[in-house]
Amino acid sequence: MRQPLVAGNWKMNGSKADAAALINGINAEMNKITKTEVAVCVPFPYLYLAEQLLADTSIRYGAQDVSREDSGAFTGQVSAAMLLDFGCHYAIVGHSERRMFNAESDVIVARKFMQAKKLGLTPIFCVGESLEEREGGQTETVVARQLDALLELGGIDALANGVIAYEPVWAIGTGVTATPEQAQEVHAFLRHRVAANSAEVATGLRILYGGSMKPSNAQELIRQPDIDGGLIGGAALKASDFLAICHASEALA
Ligand code: PGA
Repeated sequence: MRQPLVAGNWKMNGSKADAAALINGINAEMNKITKTEVAVCVPFPYLYLAEQLLADTSIRYGAQDVSREDSGAFTGQVSAAMLLDFGCHYAIVGHSERRMFNAESDVIVARKFMQAKKLGLTPIFCVGESLEEREGGQTETVVARQLDALLELGGIDALANGVIAYEPVWAIGTGVTATPEQAQEVHAFLRHRVAANSAEVATGLRILYGGSMKPSNAQELIRQPDIDGGLIGGAALKASDFLAICHASEALA
């Protein structure tokens, strides 16, 4: 059985005070969440705060990006070693907003993944198609291309105990959520593609859904056999909404 994971992606939101309130708000109910793994991916400047507030809790935390380089003259980048230094467990790689706004190619994303993994972080590997690609019948081609770039660079072992997030770009921050059937279809496709390389890795792989997941739709999504939790943007910024999604997962686990 795969343990469900509900992870918040805070993106570039909030202040130090907001971050502390949100962390404390989530933590206040963690005694009721025992079967679902809970994580928050906070902006870089708040990692120290996360480390201070989450040290003795069951909530894991991480960053929203990571450099593909070890160290050196890479102004503005943050290394995997630095994230580990702050106690991070996760780093999101290949989020569509970074692919779009920071021109991250499939190859760059794969390199970031391997760098994070090499240092001991668990990358949350995001894939997903745009509206145009979906309407053009390209969904499977696109997510396969994104996945294959990683498999080519890192081999199937890269995904051992791994985490993928399927995030259709048209559902991110739009309020439009993929239907459970649409999401399940792509999740199953991804798992089969991994299974073609290793059934064992595919079985252990957690595939999260992301894209306007909220308290009202979380349960029907997470109930799908190949959906192992969620990567939550907007609804992760309010402790009560985020917790409601954690509880929805908990009820199914
Ligand atoms: P959303 O974002 O929940 O606000 O749609 C999800 C994400 O981008 O990870």
